[in-house]
Amino acid sequence: MKADREITNLVITGFSGTGKSAVAKEVARRLSWDFLDTDDEIVERAGKPIAGIFRDCGEDKFRELERETIKRACRQRQTVIAIGGGAIVDPQNYELLARNGLIVCLEARPETIHERLFREAARSPQAEVRPLLAVDNPLERIRELKASRQPYYAKADWTIHTDGLSISEVAKEVIRAWRLLSSASDDTPIVIARHGMPKQSQEYSAPGLPRSARNDTRKTARRDSDKDTACLVETATQSYPIYVGYGLLDKLGEKMRQAALAGTATIVSDENVFSLYGKRVEQVLRDAGFGVNSFVVTPGEETKTMDSAVRIYDFLVEHRTERHDIIVALGGGVVGDLAGFVAATFLRGVPWVQVPTSLVAMVDAAIGGKVGVNHPEGKNLIGSFYQPSLVLVDCETLTTLSQRELTSGWAEVIKYGFILDKEFFEFLESNVSKLTKLEPKLLTRAIARSAAIKARVVSQDEKEREGKRIILNYGHTIAHGLETATRYRRFLHGEAVAIGMMGAARLSQRLGVLAADAVERQEALLQRFGLPISLRAQTVDRRRGKKGSRRELGLVAITKAMEVDKKVKGKAIHWVLLEDIGRAVVRSDVPQQDVLAVLRELAKP
Ligand SMILES: NC(=O)c1ccc[n+]([C@@H]2O[C@H](COP(=O)([O-])OP(=O)(O)OC[C@H]3O[C@@H](n4cnc5c(N)ncnc54)[C@H](O)[C@@H]3O)[C@@H](O)[C@H]2O)c1
Ligand SMILES: [Zn+2]
Repeated sequence: MKADREITNLVITGFSGTGKSAVAKEVARRLSWDFLDTDDEIVERAGKPIAGIFRDCGEDKFRELERETIKRACRQRQTVIAIGGGAIVDPQNYELLARNGLIVCLEARPETIHERLFREAARSPQAEVRPLLAVDNPLERIRELKASRQPYYAKADWTIHTDGLSISEVAKEVIRAWRLLSSASDDTPIVIARHGMPKQSQEYSAPGLPRSARNDTRKTARRDSDKDTACLVETATQSYPIYVGYGLLDKLGEKMRQAALAGTATIVSDENVFSLYGKRVEQVLRDAGFGVNSFVVTPGEETKTMDSAVRIYDFLVEHRTERHDIIVALGGGVVGDLAGFVAATFLRGVPWVQVPTSLVAMVDAAIGGKVGVNHPEGKNLIGSFYQPSLVLVDCETLTTLSQRELTSGWAEVIKYGFILDKEFFEFLESNVSKLTKLEPKLLTRAIARSAAIKARVVSQDEKEREGKRIILNYGHTIAHGLETATRYRRFLHGEAVAIGMMGAARLSQRLGVLAADAVERQEALLQRFGLPISLRAQTVDRRRGKKGSRRELGLVAITKAMEVDKKVKGKAIHWVLLEDIGRAVVRSDVPQQDVLAVLRELAKP
């Protein structure tokens, strides 16, 4: 049970047209609980339909009836209660419902809601037209009203995105949430469903996640400043939580137990990370009842090879690792990709857990299930998609990461703001100095938000087949060109991405899709995080000819490398560009001369 309250009822809330009543009925049937719809009760008591109550007595009267009905409903036990779409806005109602029930919010896109209400109205034309449809622009009205209620819906314990799901699928999700939350601790995941979008407000609403607010009193001072936040990746092959917190390493064993893992855990780590955190993680796992072995590799990209994988296979065989045993990747992206590849292939797949410790790994590499090793002919040429059982991010581990690695990692964080989330971009803009100083609360928030964005994108396109994952490549076309042309020696990945993002922004501006001030804001933010924004000195190849021709040579090498980059389909490069901050577009009609002009601009001294 949730420790701070007793869950005796299930409350289903959400906007009109999200299927509250039908879902609540189905959940009640499956659990053999009672079912109650507060709107139905009100209609019965008042002896007239809701629209009639509004018309004859006004909204205040309706809300009063609603409050009374909810009070009565809360006295029930083992009842699935569907409440009206606006009921939760009233703080008294919310308090009452939250005290003895688990609140599940059903979400749907305004377009879906509009279509459902419209279909419903068409099916029963005699019924009074829903007030929402009886306006000039119903879709706009739905959007507005829904947006105004969003902060209240965000207080729910669990959210299910219902677009594209049937009533019984949603009902199953509700029951899954109930099972999880009634046995789980307070840092339970928020759903980011396959078809849905995480709510923008979830990571931001002060003083943190709404759910945690109720649990404040049970936290120690340290835990207070760093509420664990989490999201769920839901792909066709697997659903798994991502936990993000400060000092969370100590909870690894507990989280693995919650994920029903048991047996022996083989920690794969590199020397740098293992020397800092290895013993602690070993102890945490032993304390949780796991057997523990550790395999430590040399740090660096050179380690991400088949040879290393084979050495780990040998170790696993030697230690009689079985199919239900677990691999724990503790380290940066190199360790994650390598250990994940071993997990995917050893005994045709063993469960594995990602514990990313570099910023790049926390916000990017550890999320999405891409695993693999390099081939002498190219990076990541051998690999697979293999999702972990859980990802646990302890932001505190960043305090030992080198400054350059850290700065490089910020490029991927900032990228998420550019391509998908203006609000997040503004959050980054307002908090640069605290974030770069690794202020625990804001750092955790930024990482949780980034992880949630990546989780959302990969949930929608697990295997990069639907073209949705491509927007994550913003800045990467030029970045890969730069990395290849400089044989991965000059830039860290994030540095190349920062320059690449400046190139992509300038290209967007040249093509007339992005305003100049947006380009400037992007440049300013990258610079404030200490990232490079131009090629300048970096294009100078010390081993060749005169300075001018060296720069030109560099550009030719970069464009050549871009053309063989794997993002090229057919002949045209698929460019991820920006229309605005927070809004990316994919274009394959970008003229070569514009690309060259932008590269030249980037190389200007
Ligand atoms: N699978 C994916 O989707 C994906 C996405 C992006 C990148 N990647 C891969 O990730 C790799 C890059 O990841 P990376 O940047 O984390 O590199 P990395 O794993 O080499 O880590 C960078 C350095 O930081 C050290 N380090 C890591 N965490 C530390 C900590 N907490 N304290 C002190 N030192 C620490 C490491 O020992 C290493 O020396 C590349 O191989 C790339 O291909 C994969
Ligand atoms: Zn990247």
